[in-house]
Amino acid sequence: MKPVKVGLLGLGTVGTGVVRIVEGNQEDLSSQVGSPIVIERIAVKNTEKARDIEVDAAIITDDPWEVIRDPEIDVIVEVMGGIAGTKEYILEALERGKHIVTANKDLMALHGSEILAKAQEKQCDVFYEASVAGGIPIIRTLIEGFSSDKIVKIMGIVNGTTNYILSKMSQEGASYLDVLKEAQELGYAESDPTSDVEGLDAARKMAILGTLGFRTNVELSDVSVSGISGVSKEDIAFAKRLGYEMKLLGIAESHEDEFSISVQPTMIRASHPIASVNGVYNAVYVYGQAVGETMFYGAGAGAMPTATSIVADLVAVIKNLKLGVNGLKQIVPYKQKKLKSDEDIFYKNFLLLHVDDKAGVLAKITQVFAEYDVSLDSVVQQANSHNPDAEIIIVTHNASKASMNKVMRHLEQLKVIHRIKSHYRVEG
Ligand code: NDP
Ligand code: HSE
Repeated sequence: MKPVKVGLLGLGTVGTGVVRIVEGNQEDLSSQVGSPIVIERIAVKNTEKARDIEVDAAIITDDPWEVIRDPEIDVIVEVMGGIAGTKEYILEALERGKHIVTANKDLMALHGSEILAKAQEKQCDVFYEASVAGGIPIIRTLIEGFSSDKIVKIMGIVNGTTNYILSKMSQEGASYLDVLKEAQELGYAESDPTSDVEGLDAARKMAILGTLGFRTNVELSDVSVSGISGVSKEDIAFAKRLGYEMKLLGIAESHEDEFSISVQPTMIRASHPIASVNGVYNAVYVYGQAVGETMFYGAGAGAMPTATSIVADLVAVIKNLKLGVNGLKQIVPYKQKKLKSDEDIFYKNFLLLHVDDKAGVLAKITQVFAEYDVSLDSVVQQANSHNPDAEIIIVTHNASKASMNKVMRHLEQLKVIHRIKSHYRVEG
């Protein structure tokens, strides 16, 4: 049995997990694919760095081109991250007929269509299960499990770092910065954690899920994004009091082939199954026209969960190699892209306003909502011993995003409002 030779780009958090699984599960893996799997070369940035695992120094290089150009290597596993340079490595590897397994959502969200087109031209596989929701096999589920259905809604906690932060802030009252540091130490965060906390990482994952779920080419610029850096402990406490949990949710909805897609901190009804997903765990809720509600749950980041998805992709590539069907199972988005306008995107809203504590203020504020036909679900006014202003909490019924934008612009002009402290989408 000729071994299948793998070139690994990156030996950090995820790369180390990949080596552990390939070595630790070798007997089981090779019996599944009918060949031993050998990690032939590994590229890192710093060859002198101490590693958590023992690896033969002779196979390590600081030049990824040595791995890409090695004629012995059949499959490249890319777990180094990065966009422009990494794209060049991958395109060149495909040019040379090598198959690709990657965890790189940044690359796939931005250049996925170009990479997949090249793969098809060269009859190579490009698998990227680990790029969304770490250890949850959601990409395979959308491509294969739901191939028969029409997906209407995908709602996901798809960033482990921010879910870890929000959960700790909610359950332990921990401070945002302390928990972010912890998430970085645990290897959950990106090398620049801004992309986690500002929602960009989740937006990239939602663009990938939207493309697969709605069979159209969803681009990053189609996703409206806001992150969690403005979420305070007070906001989380308000959410809890009203029966909600605060989560960074990606929400993609499709109706008559028009879709909307967004990532934002959202107050989700505490009874919804996704509201109880805590820590580094991710969950993806998929609503299909025929299947109805489904939900997929598991670790969204970390070495071993992520490596599980990568090595499963590696197994799929090798099985395809044996069958001679590489490059034949790509999903090609075939539907023309139609984005919903703000007039057609509806959701509930939560607002916390700091206002003058005097007669007539509430009437002035509710009048603004009435002017734009936004109906209110509840309005509560309360005093706050730390704040001379009165606090008004408003929850709307479903309102169009366009109407709410007008309400917000008008409220910003009202003199009786000192501060629009918080504004969140409400789900469930
Ligand atoms: P790390 O920063 O832990 O590891 C990156 C690895 O790549 C390191 O070994 C580094 O070398 C190497 N590397 C970086 N740049 C280069 C370069 N130019 N040339 C050669 N080697 C290079 O990242 P992670 O393992 O956390 O993430 C890797 C990828 O997986 C990213 O795309 C990330 O988004 C994705 N991902 C990560 C998850 C996680 O939980 N961490 C989960 C899902 C996806 P050196 O060790 O010498 O510094
Ligand atoms: N930084 C990412 C997260 C890693 O926290 O979810 C997994 O993609």
